[in-house]
Amino acid sequence: MLDTPTRVAADAPPLSDTQPLDRPVSPRGKRPDLLTVADAKAMSVAEMTELFKDHINPGQLHFMKLLGFHKIKIETASGMYYTDQNGRKILDFFGGFGSLALGHNHPRIIEARKQFQDEDRHEIAIAFMSQYASALAKNLAAIAPGDLDMVFLGSSGSEAMEAAIKVAERAAGPKRPKIVYAANSFHGKTKGVLSLTDSELYRGEFQLTGNTVKVPFGDIDAIRNAFEADPEIGVIVLETIQGGGGIIEAPVEFWQQLRALCDKHDVLWIADEVQCGMGRSGHFFAFEKAGVVPDVTALAKSLGGGKTAMAAMIASRKVYMKAYGTPKTAMIHAQATFGGIGEACVTAIEGLNVMYDEDLIGNAERVGSYLIERLKELQAKYPQIIKDVRGSGFMVGLEFQDFSQTLPALLRPMVALLDDKLKGSLSGFVGAELLRDHDVLVAFTEYNRNVIRLEPPLVCGREHVDQFIAALDAVLGRGIVRIVRDFIGSQTKK
Ligand SMILES: Cc1ncc(COP(=O)(O)O)c(C=O)c1O
Repeated sequence: MLDTPTRVAADAPPLSDTQPLDRPVSPRGKRPDLLTVADAKAMSVAEMTELFKDHINPGQLHFMKLLGFHKIKIETASGMYYTDQNGRKILDFFGGFGSLALGHNHPRIIEARKQFQDEDRHEIAIAFMSQYASALAKNLAAIAPGDLDMVFLGSSGSEAMEAAIKVAERAAGPKRPKIVYAANSFHGKTKGVLSLTDSELYRGEFQLTGNTVKVPFGDIDAIRNAFEADPEIGVIVLETIQGGGGIIEAPVEFWQQLRALCDKHDVLWIADEVQCGMGRSGHFFAFEKAGVVPDVTALAKSLGGGKTAMAAMIASRKVYMKAYGTPKTAMIHAQATFGGIGEACVTAIEGLNVMYDEDLIGNAERVGSYLIERLKELQAKYPQIIKDVRGSGFMVGLEFQDFSQTLPALLRPMVALLDDKLKGSLSGFVGAELLRDHDVLVAFTEYNRNVIRLEPPLVCGREHVDQFIAALDAVLGRGIVRIVRDFIGSQTKK
């Protein structure tokens, strides 16, 4: 039997009390006003803006306008560049917050996906076992150090982190339900991990779980004190490099001491590598720099090869078996509908092979060091503007001086009028001008508005770094007053 629509159409006459509620209200077979794929591709910027406003997120348009994103329609993307509707090539130093390790449309990824489609392969892996999910899990276990061998596949970083928290919580047991997390952490926005994401904005006014303990990031004494004070703590979760916090790292000794402390107190350590993993730091996992292994970790973003949504939680066999190791417990958190679907797995398998075949991790380390070196030269040239340059590999933070209090008095009210969030934050102005005048895209930072995050694809070469540095030099060379004036001018022109 065909399903009949039962929802009330906007233009339908009101239902009387006597009409049965399941009465179909649109004639069977009447086609709603649907856009086609061709319509989507041909859409103008103005139409896109209207639809974004009407159906996606009207409030977000405000920020897009501030940063100049609202004038751009990306038509194609390849390697390090987007190309917009006017044929303008935009250098991508944003990299989808770490989602584009392989760059845009890597030819081997495209080829693997095309072949998979041409061969009529299957996608949904929820009934039969999947050779693709099995191969991807095996590859991740082969890459992950120690006994990080058990893999749960999902489609977002939040989903992988939810899985990480759940496996650890079950393995820690009901007498150790408390979870330590760090100040300025970001682990996702879904309801579970929201309680471990330290953002007033994202937390909104949602009910959080009460079993959490917050510590400063990288503070081993605070963690020791917490573990000693509260025997109910069973899990600690930390990004190995804080992304949303503004590219914050802890020294290798911190991770070594953390491992020892967790072993001593029998606490499970979850390393969130959703943003810093997949080679970005110059190691496949950023924790490898310290020569220690967590009990659980999570990957997402670049695991999808820049082409699909793919995420993985990887747990030590011991932890996994404790949580879900028997037929009775196996289905508590088994794959969701889209966990391990075919083409996404094939994309990830090919992507991992490309990473090693093209030595992208080595490239991140070498060219990332060059990027930091060139940025430090700019810091020496503009010490009154650049406060700090930091990071590892292609996970780099560029922190500007905080001008919120010291902007010239003339400019302060004008800037405040534009937006409360950007007030005095040079990163917004510099980012907008890099895009407008120099065709370069960079990323902003949720919790520290003075930091620009640089996470280019790992295929980035020295020539791309040089292009980026020349653009940044040209913007900073204008001086603070002109940067801010130009920005204000660009906003009032529209
Ligand atoms: C460290 C970290 N964990 C988790 C997430 C959540 O990933 P997703 O946006 O795919 O849900 C992110 C996303 O930015 C992240 O940076």
